[in-house]
Amino acid sequence: MSVEIHFDGVSKYFGDFCAVENLTLDITRGEMVAILGKTGCGKSTMFNMVSGLQEPSSGSVRVQGRDPFREFDWFRGKIAIVFQNDRLLPWRTAVQNVELGLEMLDAPPAIRREKAMGWLAQLGLKGHENDYPHALSGGMRQRVSIARAFATDAPILLCDEPFSALDEITANRLRDEFAALVAENGKTAVFITHSIGEALKIGRRIVVLRRPARIALDEMPPANMSRDEADAIRDRIQAVLSE
Ligand SMILES: Nc1ncnc2c1ncn2[C@@H]1O[C@H](COP(=O)(O)OP(=O)(O)O)[C@@H](O)[C@H]1O
Ligand SMILES: [Mg+2]
Repeated sequence: MSVEIHFDGVSKYFGDFCAVENLTLDITRGEMVAILGKTGCGKSTMFNMVSGLQEPSSGSVRVQGRDPFREFDWFRGKIAIVFQNDRLLPWRTAVQNVELGLEMLDAPPAIRREKAMGWLAQLGLKGHENDYPHALSGGMRQRVSIARAFATDAPILLCDEPFSALDEITANRLRDEFAALVAENGKTAVFITHSIGEALKIGRRIVVLRRPARIALDEMPPANMSRDEADAIRDRIQAVLSE
């Protein structure tokens, strides 16, 4: 089992304020981990350290054995990110937005277009390739940003509450499709959420954080779990989060 993402005694301070405290966590290649915690508990700060946007105050973060902050350029094409806000460029069509990540990897134009069209189709957006973001619903825009993330072929996917701005029905559908695509494509995925239901749906493993970010619970729900098993895990998580 090879470790893809490694936190070793990581703390992160903003001035005197501790957002992440002595966090140690290994995420194995191909794992789909939900990181669950209340708002303000340090989830996005963890995310920013994995994606190389922030440096730990102490301890170390390694992704594929490298330092994402100091070796930022090496990670081009290795990590794809989906945010809560779709972050599409309004002056580009859906397909042009999906192509963006591939442009940054210098993929030839014909290949870019073919991959982008393919991923839009996989995400149910056939016929909307040439629509601009303003013409798409929130759910469709988030589909475009998921297509953009998959199109780059990055082995690691980081998602920071990607469905939390969507209505529950739309979010539910997209969640299932997303989980299936992650599994089919063998990605290592870190999925941040503040929703217990979402964590249970997405996570093959659920890491629950207590503020400041440190691990309060680390669960591996069995595949095809029964309702009773799901309820028991939900109760354990709820107990931790309400402390
Ligand atoms: N750049 C920053 N400067 C100061 N405080 C910050 C900064 N980023 C985050 N924080 C604080 O750290 C805590 C954790 O934030 P964050 O990681 O965004 O939490 P979450 O994503 O779990 O909601 C919050 O209390 C937040 O106000
Ligand atoms: Mg956050």
